[in-house]
Amino acid sequence: MCGIIAITGRDDAIAQVLAGLKRLEYRGYDSAGVAAVGAHDLEVVKRAGKLEELTRALDDTPLAASTGLGHTRWATHGAPTDRNAHPHLDPSGRVAVIHNGILENYGALKAELGDVRFASDTDSEVAAHLVARELGRLQDGPDLLTAVRRVVAQLEGAFALGFVAVDDPDTVVVAKREAPLIVAHADGVGYCASDVAALIDHTRDVAALLDGQIARIRPDGIDVVDVDGTPVEPHRFHVDWDLDAAEKQGYDHFMLKEIHEQPQAVADTLLDRLTASSDGETPRLHLDELRIDEREFARIDKVFILACGTSLHAGMLGKLAIEHWAGIPVDVEVASEFRYRDPIVDPHTLVIAISQSGETIDTIAAASHGRDQRAPVIALTNVVGSTLAREADGVLYTHAGPEIAVASTKAFTTQIVGCLILGLYLAQVRGRVYASEAEDILTRLQQIPAAIEQTLLLDQEIRELAERYRDTDYTMFIGRHAGLPIAMEGALKLKEISYLHAEAFPAGEMKHGPIALIEPGSLVVALAPAGHVFGKMVSNIQEVRARGASVLAIGTDGSTADLKEHAHHVLTLPEPPHELAGPVLAAIPLQLFAYHVATLRGEDVDQPRNLAKTVTVE
Ligand code: M6R
Repeated sequence: MCGIIAITGRDDAIAQVLAGLKRLEYRGYDSAGVAAVGAHDLEVVKRAGKLEELTRALDDTPLAASTGLGHTRWATHGAPTDRNAHPHLDPSGRVAVIHNGILENYGALKAELGDVRFASDTDSEVAAHLVARELGRLQDGPDLLTAVRRVVAQLEGAFALGFVAVDDPDTVVVAKREAPLIVAHADGVGYCASDVAALIDHTRDVAALLDGQIARIRPDGIDVVDVDGTPVEPHRFHVDWDLDAAEKQGYDHFMLKEIHEQPQAVADTLLDRLTASSDGETPRLHLDELRIDEREFARIDKVFILACGTSLHAGMLGKLAIEHWAGIPVDVEVASEFRYRDPIVDPHTLVIAISQSGETIDTIAAASHGRDQRAPVIALTNVVGSTLAREADGVLYTHAGPEIAVASTKAFTTQIVGCLILGLYLAQVRGRVYASEAEDILTRLQQIPAAIEQTLLLDQEIRELAERYRDTDYTMFIGRHAGLPIAMEGALKLKEISYLHAEAFPAGEMKHGPIALIEPGSLVVALAPAGHVFGKMVSNIQEVRARGASVLAIGTDGSTADLKEHAHHVLTLPEPPHELAGPVLAAIPLQLFAYHVATLRGEDVDQPRNLAKTVTVE
């Protein structure tokens, strides 16, 4: 959602702010703007639409300053127009604010300011007015940090806020509550941004502010305090990927690049999962970060997996893995629903929160609801230093590298691998599998990257199918067992980037209603690998074909011969090293199908309409 960047201490601050905004584009936005701190005033340029609009405007009105703010806005309060774009100024034009989040009490705060004219319909602008008022009240001269602290104490809601003021130049003050904010200092320049992607050009040593922290960023360093002014420590970390990883590297789109990065991403996620045990015998599986005694995990009798979107589909596969190997009952739940009912959670319940970004507000909130009931929490996330990673008792990282395209691909397949590892880990701590068995399964899983390489060779065949079906109004994805989450993921991928209507159903549910939707011209994508549900899938394929649907079946070496008799098209995947690993391969043709349909239709694949990469507001 909204992206924030601020830089202080270099003459080309505005150019660098723009470059940072470019790296934040993937978060999703509908307007953008910058503010430059001059000697006597603040200059703001902002435009609805893409960054090109802002760049054009800046070509007409170049801004020069050593301190600047930048913002990409994903509209919540107020339409995506020039006037609602950030930064916002106070009425005297001496304080500017940028904001990611929602200020829930903005109405009351505006009312309290009395008869003041607001220049926008946003919730955010009031923060600039309030900070300007506090600056005016300070007896000992302008001190932006103190003014912001006093305002933050009045705010309700979620925010990452950034302020500059003419009267306290060379200073940026930022504040964080429930929205991500990273700060950094390198070579006499201070930085802050919504995520590390915007800072990676400048430094890989960064710090994530924690909730309630406020930072004053100056060219000579960064001070972090709480709302009372007491110095506090942010979470410092080193980013282990470089600029190359955040570039397209010759691919037309980030999504395509990320699809092709899956062999490496999966290999990296599987790497170094075993450590020598203290008894010097078989190595044991471990989590990347563990902040409680492993024996706590051994005592659990129920698991909740909480996630949203694609991560939820990975969670559905996590349920199969944990129930299969660890023998613990698992519920998988949409994170945004979890805390609005009365889930039975206690210290013997394990919460597993899955999130690529580690910043999805609903997943963070659901996990903390579990923690409030004293349930141990494991985070499965791709982002080191993310809120979810910091707040969990244990963390397993997917080593997918930065995922820039809104449509999740490599994060998904690495999450599935993470779920397999978690299933084995829980089985190990509960004594359900011997370390040697876990080692054996992990060794077999090492074959997946090569199998992904082989699957990617289907690209041309899939593109031809996409050409044929690019204008299909309705596509139904069906699957059973491990095929069902992949069917759901295939439908999500297609709808989010091609805007075509797509749905997924358990194949066994077809006769209970959905088959009524099938008519000549419908496309049914059937997940039909060899395995214990294959025969049933063949029956479902026959049923939809008899009603006029075209059928594209995703099979494996062991099922293709049969499928060719029943489906119009068959894509053949290599046989996976384990049935539960099959979804890693099956996801890939569906990612490529969605990608090709969307590009053939001329859609903006990396930044689909209405969507943000990370959903940081409810
Ligand atoms: O960062 P998260 O994994 O928590 O994000 C969850 C969803 O917002 C995300 O998977 C979304 O569904 C993707 N756009 C799907 O491609």
